[in-house]
Amino acid sequence: MCHQTLNSAHRVQCVGGSVSEKERERTQSNRRCYWLKVLLLIFVLKEDDRGAFINEEKSSVQMYDRLHNLASSALAEKEFKQRSSRLWEEPYRQASAWKPCAGRKVPTNLGKFDKNNGYILISANGGLNQQRVAICNAVAVASLLNATLVLPQFLYSNVWNDPSQFGDIYQEEYFMNILKGEINVVNELPPHLRSLDIEAIGSLITDADLVKEAKPIDYIRHILPLLVRNGVVHFLGFGNRLGFDPLPSNLQRLRCKCNFHALKFVPKIQQVGSLLVRRIRNYGAARSMLDKQLLGNFMLDNPSNNHDAAKGPSKYLALHLRFEVDMVAYSMCEFGGGENERKELQAYREIHFPLLIERLKNSSPISPAELRKLGRCPLTPEEAALVLAGLGFKRGTYFYLAGFQIYGGKSRMDSFTSLYPNLVTKETLLTPDELAPFRNFSSQLAALDFIACATADVFAMTDSGSQLSSLVSGFRTYYGGGHAPTMRPNKKRLAAILSENSTIEWHSFEDRVKKMIEEGQRVRVRGFGRSIYRLPRCPECMCKAQ
Ligand SMILES: *[C@@H]1O[C@H](CO)[C@@H](O)[C@H](O)[C@H]1NC(C)=O
Ligand SMILES: *[C@@H]1O[C@H](CO)[C@@H](O)[C@H](O)[C@H]1NC(C)=O
Ligand SMILES: *[C@@H]1O[C@H](CO)[C@@H](O)[C@H](O)[C@H]1NC(C)=O
Repeated sequence: MCHQTLNSAHRVQCVGGSVSEKERERTQSNRRCYWLKVLLLIFVLKEDDRGAFINEEKSSVQMYDRLHNLASSALAEKEFKQRSSRLWEEPYRQASAWKPCAGRKVPTNLGKFDKNNGYILISANGGLNQQRVAICNAVAVASLLNATLVLPQFLYSNVWNDPSQFGDIYQEEYFMNILKGEINVVNELPPHLRSLDIEAIGSLITDADLVKEAKPIDYIRHILPLLVRNGVVHFLGFGNRLGFDPLPSNLQRLRCKCNFHALKFVPKIQQVGSLLVRRIRNYGAARSMLDKQLLGNFMLDNPSNNHDAAKGPSKYLALHLRFEVDMVAYSMCEFGGGENERKELQAYREIHFPLLIERLKNSSPISPAELRKLGRCPLTPEEAALVLAGLGFKRGTYFYLAGFQIYGGKSRMDSFTSLYPNLVTKETLLTPDELAPFRNFSSQLAALDFIACATADVFAMTDSGSQLSSLVSGFRTYYGGGHAPTMRPNKKRLAAILSENSTIEWHSFEDRVKKMIEEGQRVRVRGFGRSIYRLPRCPECMCKAQ
């Protein structure tokens, strides 16, 4: 059933994680909606070769026939064995020692300045998750500069194709109230500043004016004087313009509070999110701390009314398969699709990554085989399924697939669905009528994926660099109480394991895959310079029981 969804090239959506923010920033202006690109590609490539394309769509692409067969027999054998519950748990007990703490009341002098230095406007770029990061960074910057923040605006871009503004996605009043006392947030600029031409007075700050991951001192030196002189500055773009370290710990805490406490989805999103989660679990109860944070009043806590209650909830694993055409093309890797694939990806790069093409001309290329060895290739659906089988997930497991167009569509998903047929997406779980209010809003659709991934029993990602995966895993760490495991492969280790695909014994494959995943689940304190959104285990965000 999900094949149709995965395969429909006519869907008018175009969300993908960021390949490389810089590349995106540079190429944004000449990018078009994903489906248009795909259609265009089909025409560019296949004008006189349409039949071949259709054939390619039909036949599956598989790189590991032998391992696939071993996985298939292993799953058949496990079918009737008792489920091993360890799979669904975090392997390290220390995970539950950390509790959410950024919301606690602490004596602070934030927001208690004598003089308001001015107003900060931001227009955040990117999709849902990049915007979230921009908002919370702006909160910290406003506080640092003793400024008042105007409710963030979202830039419309033809990549995301979504005109949603802050209030279409997050509860405005709630946001302002939670941060009250620590930072002033207002709905709009005061009248005397509204008529200013911000660009003309030199107060428009683009990403070109500020280094990536700028430090507080950069803001004090370059932004504060403008703010004081003009009474207002406008950050255009802004995503990652505030570094993680060094930053005073009260500002770090504020940033954490913003991300984990102040941004609540609007009821429209919570309500359909709740429906989605309920349908996956096939059960009326949604009661975990994560549910509460994400679903608000739409949390159902009366399972006894549900006729399925006796069966108990079914667990599900949410999977973010970042195998979308932009990522695949950008990687320069090969994925077993032969000449067709090579041509198709090269054509895509020429249209969408002109700077990458330029760079490649002036450097000696790394071979696709070498890239694979270095762990630089995004995981294919087939590889993801092999890892999940190696971990011991049963054939009947429910998988919620987040994200959008899988590169290659059905032909790429076949090897996944032949091992794991119970694959669902928001499009298969919700009716067209239920989805209709979200259809034209890619960020709101992304919010539904965020909810389904964050509240999943297990969340598995294939790329830890993606913004969705990163924020979702942070949420699960923060609110999961040590019972919301996230699995991320170490791509280099995995490549080494898979390079033995023609000889490795299945039990040895299992062992090595399990060790690799467990290694990634170790409980560590956030390291210097690492994202607090992804790794909130640090004293500013979480408290550790002694
Ligand atoms: C902000 O206000 C506090 C308290 O009045 C003051 O100590 C600090 O220097 C101010 N910072 C800036 C950047 O104006
Ligand atoms: C979505 O956009 C299409 C094309 O612009 C329009 O026809 C349709 O009415 C829109 N749907 C909703 C729910 O806004
Ligand atoms: C699979 O095994 C073959 C034979 O050893 C090897 O040549 C190939 O590179 C392996 N595939 C991958 C993707 O590592």
